[in-house]
Amino acid sequence: MRKRTSLDGLWQWIIDPHERTVTEAKTGYILDESPGYLRDVKNRFVDTLYPPDWRKIRIPCTWNTAKDELRYYDGAVLFQREFEASAPKKGRRIFLQFEAGFYETRVFLNGKAVGEHRGGFTPFQFDVTPLIRNGRNRLNVWVDSRRRPERLPCEVTDWFNYGGIYRSVFLEERDENHLSDFFCRYANGAVVVEIETAGKLHGVAHFRIPALKTDREIEIRNGRGRVRIPCEPVLWTPAAPRLYRVECSFGNDVVTERVGFRTIETRDGRIFLNGSPIKLKGISLHEEAGERGRALTKKDRNRIFDIATELGLNFLRLAHYPHAREMAVEADRRGFLLWEEIPVYWRIQFANKETYADAANQLTELIKRDRNRCSVAMWSVGNETPQEVENRTRFLGDLADLARKLDPSRPVVAAIFAARKGDRIVVADPLAENLDIFGVNRYGGWYEGTYDDFRRLENPRYPDKPILISEFGAAAKKGLHGRKKFAEEYQRTVYKHTLAAIKRNPCVQGCTPWILFDFRSPNRLNRHQNGWNRKGLVDADRKRRKLAFHTYKNWSF
Ligand code: GCU
Repeated sequence: MRKRTSLDGLWQWIIDPHERTVTEAKTGYILDESPGYLRDVKNRFVDTLYPPDWRKIRIPCTWNTAKDELRYYDGAVLFQREFEASAPKKGRRIFLQFEAGFYETRVFLNGKAVGEHRGGFTPFQFDVTPLIRNGRNRLNVWVDSRRRPERLPCEVTDWFNYGGIYRSVFLEERDENHLSDFFCRYANGAVVVEIETAGKLHGVAHFRIPALKTDREIEIRNGRGRVRIPCEPVLWTPAAPRLYRVECSFGNDVVTERVGFRTIETRDGRIFLNGSPIKLKGISLHEEAGERGRALTKKDRNRIFDIATELGLNFLRLAHYPHAREMAVEADRRGFLLWEEIPVYWRIQFANKETYADAANQLTELIKRDRNRCSVAMWSVGNETPQEVENRTRFLGDLADLARKLDPSRPVVAAIFAARKGDRIVVADPLAENLDIFGVNRYGGWYEGTYDDFRRLENPRYPDKPILISEFGAAAKKGLHGRKKFAEEYQRTVYKHTLAAIKRNPCVQGCTPWILFDFRSPNRLNRHQNGWNRKGLVDADRKRRKLAFHTYKNWSF
C-alpha cells in the first residue's frame, strides 16, 4: 500500500534576490551544516548570509499575497521545512511530490541536491529514498518566479505573476515495484486501460471496476500493459455525472480513482458527447482568489462551481495555464466539461528549442495528471499566438501532435484569431490544419469590430471542425453606470448583442466569454481598472454580480 505524509503547514523562508543560497550550495552552509563548510563560509559570508534570517510562512501559498513585503516581488525565495521521518524499509521507496511551484524549483534534502523543475503549473516528484534520514530531516526548496523570454509564460502577460509553492507538497512511500501511471478511458463500447510500472517491469497487474463486476488481469512487459474491456457502463454526462470507483493493482501497490466513462468526438462542425451533439455554454476563468492569489482553497473552487451552476453552464475554460488538479476532480463530480490549456501565450520564443521542451513538458505533465478525468474535453496548446511569426505554427502544431500521442481520445484546440475577409469573418489561421476544434477570440464592440461580428463568422475551409467562441466581452467597473465604456450597462449591451449573434450562427458550437471574475493584471492601470482586468461578470470580490451576469444567465443556445 502507499503511505502519504503531507508537508503542508508552517515553513521558513528567506528572500534570495541574488541567488546566493543556491550558488553557495557548494559551500552549503544553509543547506548543509557540516562543520568544515561552516568554517569556510564564516570567513567569507558571515556578514551576509549566516545565520539565515528565517521568517515563517504557511505553505501552500503565493508569497505575493502571503507577505506584504513580497507583494510585487518577482525573484527567488529559499524555503525550509524540517520534518521527522523513518528511512524506508527494504523494498520500499519514498517520493517527494510538489503539486506546483512557480516557476523554477530547486530541491535540496539534508543539504544534498535532489533535483530541479521548470514550469509553474504542473506536478513533479523526486525519488528521495537515499537521502531520507531516520529522525529529523531538513528540506530546502528554492523557487524563482521570474519570467524570462525563453519561459512559458514569458514576460508579458495580462495577468499577475504569482510566485511560490502554491499547491500541496507531500511525501509518498510506495512499494519499489509500483504503478507509475495508468490511463483508463471509454472508447467503442469498451474500457481501455494502459498501465506503466516502475521497479519490476514484468508481471501481472489487475484492473477492477467493482460496480461492473469487472476484474481483469493485464500482462506487464517492459513496464507496460494494455487491456480492452468490452462493457456498457452508464455513460457520464453533465446532467448525470455517473462516476465509477476503479482499482488498479500491481504486486502490493494499489491505486484507486473515481472515473466517468464518456466519449467526445468532433465531426460535421459539431461536438458529440456519447454520440449526441452538444452545445457548450461556458465561461473563461483564471486561477485566482483575491487575497489567496493562485493558492485556491476547496471553498474557493466550490464558489466557482456554484456560480457556474447559477449561470446554467456545462463548460469551463481553465485559462491560460493548468489549474489545480482538484478542478477536474470536482468537474467530474458536478458534471462540467473542461478546456485545459498550457501557457503558450501571445509572443514567445517559437524558435527556441528550450522553450519548446518546456512547453512539451508542461503539456505532458498536464495530460498525464488529468487524462483520467472525464470532465476534460479538450487540450489547448495556446492562446492568441501571432500566426505571422516564423516557427509559431510549427511550434503549436508539434504540441498538437504530442497531445494526440499522449491522449488519442480527446480533441486538440487553441484560441486563435479569425480574419476579416470583406464583410465576412473567417478562420484562416494556418494552425487550423492541425487543430480539431477552433477557439476564436474576438472583442466586437470593445477592441475592434461591432457587436454582431459573430453573425458573420464563417468556416468555409474547415466545415467539419467545430468553432467555439473562446473569448468575447467588455470591461465594467462594478457600480459604474452610464452609456460609456467601463459602465455596467455598456458591458451588458456587448453581451446582449454578441450572444444574439452567436445564437444565430450555426457554425458556433459553444462559448466561454471572458471572464467570470475580475482579476489582477499589472497591464490594466487606467482609473477604472487600477491594476485589475475588469471584464469579469462578477467583481473581484467574487460576490457582486454585474448587470451582464444576468444577461448571460438568462441566455441559452
Ligand atoms: C486576450 C487574452 C486575455 C486577456 C483578454 C483581455 O484575448 O486572451 O488573456 O486578458 O484578451 O484583453 O482582457
